[in-house]
Amino acid sequence: MRTNHRHRLAVSATTVFLGVSVALGSGLATPAFADSTTVSAVILGVGANEAQRIVTWYSTVDVAQQVQVAPTAKLGANGEFPADAVTFAATGAANIATSGGFNRHSTITGLQENTSYSYRVGSAGDWSTAYAFSTQDFEGDYDFLFYGDPQIGASGNVAKDQAGWTDTLDVSLTANPKAELLVSGGDQVETANTESQWNAFLASDKLRQYPWAATIGNHDVGGKAYEQHLYTPNTDRSTAYYADGKGTATSGGDYWYVYKDTLFIDLNSNSYATSQGGGGDAAHVAYVTDVINKHGSEAKWTVLVYHHSIYSAASHAKDADNKVRRVDFPATFSKLGVDLVLQGHDHVYTRSYLIKNGAKANPDEQPGQSEVFAGPGGVLYVTANSASGSKYYDITTPDSSGTSGAGNGADPLKPEDYWYNSVQNQEHVRSYVKVQVRNDKLVVEDVRSGTCAAPNASVELGLSCSNDAATKGVGTVVDKVTVHPYHGDNQDIQVNVPALAPGEFGWTIDGQNGLVDLGTAAQQKDAFFLSADGKINPIKVTDSRRTLSPWALSASVGDFADAAKSFSGAYLGWSPYLVTKGAGATAGSAVASGYDNGGKGLSESAVLGSAAQGHARGSAVLGADLGLKFPDSVDKGNYRTTLTITALSS
Ligand SMILES: [Fe+2]
Repeated sequence: MRTNHRHRLAVSATTVFLGVSVALGSGLATPAFADSTTVSAVILGVGANEAQRIVTWYSTVDVAQQVQVAPTAKLGANGEFPADAVTFAATGAANIATSGGFNRHSTITGLQENTSYSYRVGSAGDWSTAYAFSTQDFEGDYDFLFYGDPQIGASGNVAKDQAGWTDTLDVSLTANPKAELLVSGGDQVETANTESQWNAFLASDKLRQYPWAATIGNHDVGGKAYEQHLYTPNTDRSTAYYADGKGTATSGGDYWYVYKDTLFIDLNSNSYATSQGGGGDAAHVAYVTDVINKHGSEAKWTVLVYHHSIYSAASHAKDADNKVRRVDFPATFSKLGVDLVLQGHDHVYTRSYLIKNGAKANPDEQPGQSEVFAGPGGVLYVTANSASGSKYYDITTPDSSGTSGAGNGADPLKPEDYWYNSVQNQEHVRSYVKVQVRNDKLVVEDVRSGTCAAPNASVELGLSCSNDAATKGVGTVVDKVTVHPYHGDNQDIQVNVPALAPGEFGWTIDGQNGLVDLGTAAQQKDAFFLSADGKINPIKVTDSRRTLSPWALSASVGDFADAAKSFSGAYLGWSPYLVTKGAGATAGSAVASGYDNGGKGLSESAVLGSAAQGHARGSAVLGADLGLKFPDSVDKGNYRTTLTITALSS
């Protein structure tokens, strides 16, 4: 019998970066705050990675333009950009007639971490106001915020919608000033090409300080203004990703980016059926598969974003088009190991149970459970409520159409809710979703950014409101869940090992197979290496065979990798030991880090534990202390490797 299980080790290595500042004279003639009369609608967008941003804007003149960038610390006393400020050329085209003028976008590349930058757009002598954004550590933990359907204009009162949207941005970023991305759930505006609604959407300067990751909704799709305003990285604009299969007068495209170990894939869910003219869901499924196959290894998390929620609870929950997506998407997302799906469109907050292949993954998961463990294929789906207050939809009732696939049946554990939802909430108040990305968990929470009080356009215009501001005020949490990821590659084996029948040999991870986190490596005083320690997740071996045959468990690691960076697994050593005696088990010999002896460390298979012929029957638990020691030439990063465990028995 030969079995392979795998689990992961992670270590953070740190090196010291030296920055050199050179003082520069400020002899620029251009006043810093001369606001261009030709530039408007500036928005900071997400780039292809954490070292990039994309800036998009409108111009009334069709001239060559740029974005100019400099570290804020280098600006002069009156905000003058330094002589060595970097410029990036813009490209663009003429806007459609109803928009007028021209659009421009430019990609800022080569940003450094933990730096505040100032930027302006336009051309020499005609620069926009300067805006600022900051980068943070390019590795490790971070938070991002997700906003549902601002849909400016939906209430019928653009000014009130703008007030609510601006307030949600203010409230959420005051509470989370270090949030690194603002992720859109789609429907920026009510009417695709109405520029007055776009101006209201873009009114807050927060959209020039934090990168917006655009998502296209059904209200954005019907014109070109969405693409004119929101340029996105790595965007596939093939006609398959346009609902009408053309894209001449509509917006569309699927895109992806990797931000600090998260692969984000953003889909134009307006295209769902080939009968519309485009490639429909099949094209999206192929796109997601291709992007994850090509870029999944560059990240530790996969987050999908699209507009039309497939597991919602209000007016759109039973829509025929969503039933199609609900059949087309889930099995692929489960198979590809997607961690989180963020959606909008139904203007209600929902958090799904972990869904595997279109059905509840674990029938025992309880409504509102605060910790969930994603087994193989478990995916969390979240629907954001309105971030602006322009429109809310009330929760609807389940029907008798079943509890899997396209069904909208009732949850057996909470019959007033849909079978797929762990949490449903509608109070007619604004909220946003905060996601904390941590080394070995995602924390997803829905946070109120408003109450029944203004700004709340729908309620101001007569809608009821059930929020109690005294107990559920601004900043309070509607729902919070911690998702623990699944670590197995050989997924069917890793979790589905059953209790052993008599007369078998086998082994399993003892407890939850969480990430083996070696923490941040420490630099040693007066030495040229870093080190980190940890322990493997204990392994339980059971041998009840009557033959009393020998067995051995051994393991090895590959190189530690972080995207394109890596260092040798030979630097990892270990000292195995018996946690619980039994089954004749003896611990394997210690293996030193290759840093100490020039050896191969755990890059070569080493014995964790073994038992000789004639050993006693029973079980044992084996552990090992891990010791990592590697040269200080390794670049900063958040490195992972996989420990592959092999059992041999005869
Ligand atoms: Fe929508």
